[in-house]
Amino acid sequence: MPPRSACSRLGAAVRYLSGKRSSPTVKEIGIYETLPSNSRVFSMIQPTGRIHLGNYLGAVKSWRTLSSTNPESEFIFGIADLHALTVQRPAQQLRDFRYQAIASLLSSGLDADKCILYFQSAVPEHSELNWYLTCITSMGQLNRMAQWKSKAQQAQNSTILDDAVVEATKAGLFCYPALQVADILIYKSTHVPVGDDQAQHLELCRTIARLFNSTYAVDFFPIPETLLTPAKKILSLKNPEKKMSKSDPVQAGCVYVTDTPDEIRRKIRKATTDSVQGQWKFDPVQRPGVSNLINIISGLTDRAIGDVVADLDGLKDHKALKDHVAELIIDEFDEKRQLYDDLLQNKDYLDSVCRKGSDHAREIASANIQQVKHIIGLD
Ligand code: TYM
Repeated sequence: MPPRSACSRLGAAVRYLSGKRSSPTVKEIGIYETLPSNSRVFSMIQPTGRIHLGNYLGAVKSWRTLSSTNPESEFIFGIADLHALTVQRPAQQLRDFRYQAIASLLSSGLDADKCILYFQSAVPEHSELNWYLTCITSMGQLNRMAQWKSKAQQAQNSTILDDAVVEATKAGLFCYPALQVADILIYKSTHVPVGDDQAQHLELCRTIARLFNSTYAVDFFPIPETLLTPAKKILSLKNPEKKMSKSDPVQAGCVYVTDTPDEIRRKIRKATTDSVQGQWKFDPVQRPGVSNLINIISGLTDRAIGDVVADLDGLKDHKALKDHVAELIIDEFDEKRQLYDDLLQNKDYLDSVCRKGSDHAREIASANIQQVKHIIGLD
């Protein structure tokens, strides 16, 4: 049984995600979740450079825990380099970012013998299934997604039907969630661990999987379950209204796995908090900055928020809280940063890991795409 606080957070997440109707397909990941045997767990991360604390606590740490504690399950973790093309950058920068992403995953403790690690662009079946699924996905479904609006810097209540919005939004960005659905379904994945910013895309994935099955009267795609990580959303240190993100123009708000201890101390010391003295409280609405730091401690130490808050009683002021958080992050990342630097010097090794991963991923994907082609009449 998960601890009570985890249960209540699970309840809150489920209500938030499904509008008061509880959904059995969204679950908070317990720290050592036991998955049904033969589960196929899939997730991805974009190669936008080094990974940050949000990616680590919202995704990669749980990938590591799940894959090291569920030997009966299969794990596929990809670097979403096709998704990264929604932002144009120099080719050499993308090459560097791809290496940085795979080095980040390995240095964060993912084991290439227990997981398939690969680049999305090396498995063309993602793009092929993307087209088949785009043909059954309505513009309305894509229009309701929140993420393209924030990435295209449009208001959340805007719609692709507005003249200004349609001109300012690239088709790839608008259709991005359909590719994400194809990523998951090409492997007939059963579980997808993500941070909660991805929950809406996962809901779309279940809708499209059901739609495909009913359109072609088959029971082909499993309906994948979202596994929400306990540290669902890590917020920017400088602006705790927004999530921590690599694209945040205020880089002091984002801590990277590869930051030096001095950089980490500097960023945490400058984190926005509040002037309330004398009592620690987890209250994301009234005290977002302090609550973000508490959430970070909870994610790093695998302890429930309530237990973390109880332990803070010994800390006399905000400076002491920040010092505590900084030292926890430094402890967590110190070895990882050194390993990351070593791995980046060994590109042949990184290439060999990804080659092995993409060969394995392609075996699964090409068998599944043959079946999809048969189902839809393309054989
Ligand atoms: P990306 O690259 O933005 O993020 C990768 C993972 O990190 C989580 N994450 C966070 N969690 C908590 N707090 C934060 N501040 C934070 N920032 C990021 C994300 O929830 C995610 O789990 N579209 C996806 C990549 C993708 C994908 C997929 C994921 C492509 N295809 C299929 C799952 C399944 C993305 O841009 O993630």
